[in-house]
Amino acid sequence: MHRNVHRNAPSLASIHRWYTNNSQNSTISRNKPKRRIIDLRSDTVTQPTQSMLRCALNAKTGDDVFCEDPSVLHLEERTADLFGMEAGLFVPTGTMSNLISVLSHCDSRASEIVIGANSHMCLWEGGGASNLGGIHTRQIVENPNDGTMRLDAIRDLIRRDGDVHHPTTELICLENTHNALGGVVLPSQYLANVRSIADDMDGVKVHIDGARIFNALVALTNDDVGVSSSAAIDMCTGGAHSVSVCLSKGLGAPLGGLLVGDIEFIRLARRARKRVGGGMRQVGVVASMGTYALEHHVDRLVEDHCRAKRIARALVDNGFIQPQGGNVSTNIVYFALPQRIPPSRTSSHVTTMMQGKEFCERLEREYGVKILWGFGEGGTLFRIVTHMDILDDDVDTAIEAILQLSGGEGGTED
Ligand SMILES: Cc1ncc(COP(=O)(O)O)c(C=O)c1O
Repeated sequence: MHRNVHRNAPSLASIHRWYTNNSQNSTISRNKPKRRIIDLRSDTVTQPTQSMLRCALNAKTGDDVFCEDPSVLHLEERTADLFGMEAGLFVPTGTMSNLISVLSHCDSRASEIVIGANSHMCLWEGGGASNLGGIHTRQIVENPNDGTMRLDAIRDLIRRDGDVHHPTTELICLENTHNALGGVVLPSQYLANVRSIADDMDGVKVHIDGARIFNALVALTNDDVGVSSSAAIDMCTGGAHSVSVCLSKGLGAPLGGLLVGDIEFIRLARRARKRVGGGMRQVGVVASMGTYALEHHVDRLVEDHCRAKRIARALVDNGFIQPQGGNVSTNIVYFALPQRIPPSRTSSHVTTMMQGKEFCERLEREYGVKILWGFGEGGTLFRIVTHMDILDDDVDTAIEAILQLSGGEGGTED
């Protein structure tokens, strides 16, 4: 058995030959002009910068399961301070962060959480709360314009009456900015109101999935230049009990995020992180890149927002359907192709499954522009996300490509 594997395995010489023929050093690929790929699928696709990599090389490390990694401790403390919280916990992913937050807030099975039906935690995190924590989700469909859930609906759903039929509501989960609803920034008064509902219900906590909370922060400070950054942070969290923050979305770190809260919550979260396999060792190499991202890549998010606004505006001006009517507030743009039959004959978008898939494939193959498709009700929306590896020229190219491929201005041909 072993011998067969070895006999069929490529020799080192053949691997070298293959590499030489296929690498950028080969004559063939050197002569072929390389097209720049414009990847607008997500703000998670960014490459670490040279400066970040230098931080990783020079990072002081230790065993983080023993809480001995100085780079991690520094980042945890720094982020907790930034959010006015007592403590922080470094986590590998946003999904794990949200999961361990829920596991820590809901200390028994048959607890329940109130959550937006279109939240990332509900749609795209593998149902972790229920399948790993035995925690029930009560979902409320958010207002598509501002990402809020109705306050009276939140209040009505909370159950803490000890009735044998009822799970006990322990947590309300919010998402700021709200990914599936177009990167909208949750209104700060709404956040504060949710927190007071939780307080009224004695013992209910509020968690914010703040994977893109820095986008909210930058959008708020940009709209209201007088606001200080600590006041702006409060406006983005509304005094939530815990916040999950990602460094790998928009800020350009290759991975990692932080969960912040009070000391007791973070103690529980550290235990939960270990249980789900998230205890890491000399992870200061990664944390140091995260610290760099936090220090250098927050303010620049405004550039991503400007580029996203430009794309949204151009699409609307050319007859595309854009749920925010072209006024996106951060870095996410959803859109549907222009309706090819008069609206009177159909109330739904006419992008069929095939059209969406084909459109994305052709956009990539023919123009080198990558976007995603299959979002929104009926899965009819495309998604574009701007990020730090996207430049103004890329935006021009992407707009031009989308217009051309959809049949030119208005895209109304059959
Ligand atoms: C709003 C939101 N929360 C959480 C996550 C999960 O983050 P991760 O991919 O790091 O698990 C994402 C991922 O894109 C997200 O958009």
